Amino acid sequence: MKLIQVQDYQEMSQKAAEIVIEKIKENPQIQLGLATGGTPEGFYNRLIADHKENHTSYKQVKSFNLDEYIGLSSTNPNSYHYYMADTFFNHIDINQEDTNLPNGTAENIQEECSRYDEMIDKMGGIDLQILGIGQNGHIGFNEPGTSFASKTQVVDLAQSTIEANARYFDSIDEVPTQAVTMGIASIMKSKEIVLLVSGVAKAKALKQLIDGELTEEFPASILKKHHNVTIIADQEALSEYASKSDSTLRG
Ligand code: GLP
Repeated sequence: MKLIQVQDYQEMSQKAAEIVIEKIKENPQIQLGLATGGTPEGFYNRLIADHKENHTSYKQVKSFNLDEYIGLSSTNPNSYHYYMADTFFNHIDINQEDTNLPNGTAENIQEECSRYDEMIDKMGGIDLQILGIGQNGHIGFNEPGTSFASKTQVVDLAQSTIEANARYFDSIDEVPTQAVTMGIASIMKSKEIVLLVSGVAKAKALKQLIDGELTEEFPASILKKHHNVTIIADQEALSEYASKSDSTLRG
């Protein structure tokens, strides 16, 4: 894993946007894996600004999101479908039909999970996956204890995740208790991964990711086994980790 240390949230967002814009220039048909949550909002804002100023085009780009809440339809403002449209897709020139998220309201949710993995495989896989990390080390919605071999699946959300995400809902009782998420093995198939980590709330998780052992109790630890991971972390997130320069971390 490569670690890029930046000052703050703005610099993290800028750096991530620069990497993605560069990759789109190299390959206008790039297949992007996208994430939701508070962390990538600044990153999406910068991609939008660049699209408006420099006309970087997403017309040939395809996107695949990590996860969606079970039971929330795309018109629900708390759904990740809505988040992606509102935060990113509606402001760039990507074709709606080239944007993909798991359907959390599918009648047969198991079938939906297999469909999602098969579709990604059939389309040639994800070139670059953007990831965030939960305070408990989750990636996507793969909570501690998830098998490293997991494919896209239905998961019960950890109480700590429900509490962390309650800020977006009117009350904690409205937070769905289940989600459909790309599995750990599905995420690991991406050719390249960029992990964004910002804020003091993530400091313990980042330290554990860098210094801790490989264990299913800390899902993000699997990233040590991927051959092309870049972590972009700001000073607050790095506050529990002491190294001073950018570095390649042990696998
Ligand atoms: C959410 C998402 C993850 C995200 C993580 C951190 O629940 N399912 O994909 O990376 O938790 O979220 P945030 O960036 O808001 O801290």
